[in-house]
Amino acid sequence: MNDREILQLLCDAEREAAGLILQAHDILAENKTDRRDVVTAYDRRVQEKLIESLTAAVPGARFFCEENDRHDDLRAEHVFIIDPIDGTMNFVHGFHHSCISAAYMHSGELRAAAIYNPYVQELFTAVKGEGAYLNARPIRVWDGPLSQSVICCGTTPYDESLTDRGFALMKKAFRAGLDIRREGSAALDLCSAAAGRAGVYFELGLSLWDYAAGKLIVEEAGGVCCTLDGAPMPLDPSRPSLLAGGKRAVEEFLKLAREE
Ligand code: IPD
Ligand code: CA
Ligand code: CA
Repeated sequence: MNDREILQLLCDAEREAAGLILQAHDILAENKTDRRDVVTAYDRRVQEKLIESLTAAVPGARFFCEENDRHDDLRAEHVFIIDPIDGTMNFVHGFHHSCISAAYMHSGELRAAAIYNPYVQELFTAVKGEGAYLNARPIRVWDGPLSQSVICCGTTPYDESLTDRGFALMKKAFRAGLDIRREGSAALDLCSAAAGRAGVYFELGLSLWDYAAGKLIVEEAGGVCCTLDGAPMPLDPSRPSLLAGGKRAVEEFLKLAREE
């Protein structure tokens, strides 16, 4: 199977699994590590459905997923990195802003990605070297300055040791840009940067399943995705910080972060 065929597979699997999200009812949140880190039966069902469809099409595929500790070797030949519902807090509280995020990695290289927001039927996709798309139309990052940018940010809700630094940076971001947004889905924040809606998106700590697909989409949209120190994003479980957007706004934001 080539990368485009894999992308098609990801899109079909996500669209199909999205029915579970749209038809969800009596959503019960269970705590994982703490009261902010929640999971529902729907997160697990979406993940199971995706694993089922992808395994049927790519026998022997490995998985690195958020739920059920399915953390296979990331250096394997075919690896799918999945966040079954990104924006679970939104999902539980009825904010219709969550998505299914999946990336395909071939022997350690990100090659295809699809992020689907079923509430507004927006499907963001990318194949390595072939550009980024929203519902099959090409998208580009915003190439302008930070002063003309809306800035998306995340609160790293599961790690309070980062709260002070994160909120201090948000204040700086608010002053430097037009306004800030905290929308509650890292994957969709990356898509907002890729589509040029947000000038940049930043967060102090994310898991690989939060950003793998969005990173490829941002880069294929002509943007940059790095840590807040300006280092390349690691494709491993280290929970790095993240900054993404157009080159000019990212460079300005890196300076701002250094001045902390
Ligand atoms: C979370 C969301 C949130 C971000 C957190 C993520 P989840 O993912 O993307 O916006 O601030 O850092 O963990 O738990 O909804 O999959
Ligand atoms: Ca997530
Ligand atoms: Ca999730």
